[in-house]
Amino acid sequence: MKNHIFIDKVIEPFNEQITVSSDKSLSIRCILLSSIAMGKSKIYNLLDSEDVVSSLKIIKKMGVNYIKKKKYVEIYGLGINGFKIKNGSKLNAGNSGTLARCILGICSAIKTEIKLVGDKSLSKRDFSRVIKPLKLFGVNIQSRNGLLPIKLKGTSFLRPIKYIENKGSAQIKTCIILSAINTPGITKIKAKKSRNHTELLLKYLKYPIDIKKKKFHDIIEIRGNKQIRSFNYNIPGDISSAAFFIVLTLLSKKSKLKIKDININPSRIGILTILNQMKANIKIINKRNYRGEYIGDIIIKSKTNLKSINCPAKLNSASIDEFLLIFIVAAKSKGISSFKNLGELNKKESPRLEIAIKFLKMIGIKVLRKKNNIKIFGNPKLELKGNFHIKKFLMDHRVFMLSVVAALTFGGNWKINDKNSINTSFPQFLKIAKKLGAKIN
Ligand code: S3P
Repeated sequence: MKNHIFIDKVIEPFNEQITVSSDKSLSIRCILLSSIAMGKSKIYNLLDSEDVVSSLKIIKKMGVNYIKKKKYVEIYGLGINGFKIKNGSKLNAGNSGTLARCILGICSAIKTEIKLVGDKSLSKRDFSRVIKPLKLFGVNIQSRNGLLPIKLKGTSFLRPIKYIENKGSAQIKTCIILSAINTPGITKIKAKKSRNHTELLLKYLKYPIDIKKKKFHDIIEIRGNKQIRSFNYNIPGDISSAAFFIVLTLLSKKSKLKIKDININPSRIGILTILNQMKANIKIINKRNYRGEYIGDIIIKSKTNLKSINCPAKLNSASIDEFLLIFIVAAKSKGISSFKNLGELNKKESPRLEIAIKFLKMIGIKVLRKKNNIKIFGNPKLELKGNFHIKKFLMDHRVFMLSVVAALTFGGNWKINDKNSINTSFPQFLKIAKKLGAKIN
């Protein structure tokens, strides 16, 4: 089967209602937490993607059984420190940074040695960020230059830590929280704001976790060695997947879209704040609370006279996976947009800051970069002609989907490689684009 697509027509006006794939962050967290809960948990609407399959395969290797039913997955948790894992087991996290970093935390007390590996992209990503706190807990962990493969052997003599997490990374924070659950005593984290799904899930499960919210960081205290009760959970849609259709609608002509049942946790919806500051008109309706998370329907209309933004860095974490899309909106806006402190973008599935700059230049947009800050010189009249071939973009799912949105809104003849990359997070992406009228071959 071919692994590329062709697009040579912009999308016609549409007025539709869709749902998108389930939230990836919540899917992985629900699998991991139910694996250490006591007894049977039921996860409804689990994302059906490669990152989630990798998560299920890993808990299976650790002795946790699960059964896939039509509407939910039943996971038979073994309780904390209950994993049954053979010495020397190889755990493969595939493409998923979230899974890989969290699994190291969850394994901090296992007494056998495991080896963590991943695909080509994950093998280039930094793990020193989680190795450092895990060593403080007392975990034996070896890697060369902070990269995969990593060998880990846990210990029953974990000691609680005090840690300052200053990258705004939810993966680091969650890795520490999961390790703290295995550790007697109270672990304290001062964490720069980042997505807080793990904390909300633990709160919902009445786990002893205390969170004090400050302006730029949270103080989190977790008491370890307490059992987690099993639970049922229904995963809402992923804002990071919805974002592709939000921007597609915004940049298309005379279109309107309703995206239903999306997780609108305030720590995830930076893109909505940013786009509305750029004069988009995105509304959230039917907002409700589900087990501490917020869910809502998003309504979005096309907009022609978008304005540039001087984006405050405090919105970076809440829109970290959406910057590629935000940049193409800036490309089509009036004025010069500026974005700061984007170093973390280069730590993703591909070095996204580098790739974004190449991409913007390829579509004829002037970009200036100073360290990790960029300025994008918008062109509201941007319309493309000629050929564009996206080939060496390192198989990053978000770069593939970005290219599709650009092709469907800016015009030109596009050949876009690495179609299969969408299977890691949003397998239904092309099907939904076609439902809205996109002509994709
Ligand atoms: C995620 C956290 C973010 C995000 C990733 C998912 C999570 O990474 O980019 O796609 O589920 O915790 P960082 O924690 O490295 O910022």
